[in-house]
Amino acid sequence: MDNRPIGIFDSGIGGISILNELYKELNNEEFIYLADNKNCPYGNKSKKIITELSVKNCKELIKLDCKAIVVACNTSTTNSIESLRKTFNCPIIGIEPGIKPAILATKTKKIGVLATEKTLSSDIFLKTQYTNNKEKIKIFEQPGFGLVESLEKGVEVKSIIFKKKLYQYLFPMVKKNIDHLVLGCTHYNFLKNEIKEIIGNKIKIVDSIMPVVNQTKKVLNEFNLNSDKTTHGNVKLFYNSKIISKDFIDEIFEIERKEF
Ligand code: DGL
Repeated sequence: MDNRPIGIFDSGIGGISILNELYKELNNEEFIYLADNKNCPYGNKSKKIITELSVKNCKELIKLDCKAIVVACNTSTTNSIESLRKTFNCPIIGIEPGIKPAILATKTKKIGVLATEKTLSSDIFLKTQYTNNKEKIKIFEQPGFGLVESLEKGVEVKSIIFKKKLYQYLFPMVKKNIDHLVLGCTHYNFLKNEIKEIIGNKIKIVDSIMPVVNQTKKVLNEFNLNSDKTTHGNVKLFYNSKIISKDFIDEIFEIERKEF
């Protein structure tokens, strides 16, 4: 048993889509979330810089006495998870790119992936595609240029310009007859309604939220790290830029600016 908090980080608000579900499913656990929004976006930075930023975030979470760390960012996971696991002793849970379930489920043999540039070009992403794609499923990739930046600003996603941009990214994949769309960036989980408006109901959206939650539960059990508290745990959210958009953040969470 271990009543210390679970640490989570992302370049900004994206990982909150994972945190929300963890908070629901592991309700007696405490959580500390780091939004490294001073350095957002990660998706156009080099592997070296992404790794340095991810190491910095993990160090901070360990300083805050976290018992395990959830990397709630596809870009960090695909570019730095191996280094993180080599550097730190505590269990580190990453995000599996959702392409495997999409490959297994597709009927049209065509799937789409919307992710950041650096997730799409990462070795882990290419390896996942290669090892799971024995049936030569067609995978259409689209980098979501600028989407993370708009989400960080909040209201901007309701604008016509933003919707047009999203349409330009998604409609070519719809025309190619994909039947699954993988969201390869945690920020995009907040765009499901806007995405559905463009792709319709027939194309299934595949996110990685529940697989991460289930993996976290498994790791806590495996390492005997579950909390034995009987009350609902709290969430502390720290950000390091001047401001953070509260549009996607649950009011119950404690929010504070912090240098890290
Ligand atoms: N939420 C991060 C991800 O899952 C966003 C990356 C970025 O900051 O560009 O990839």
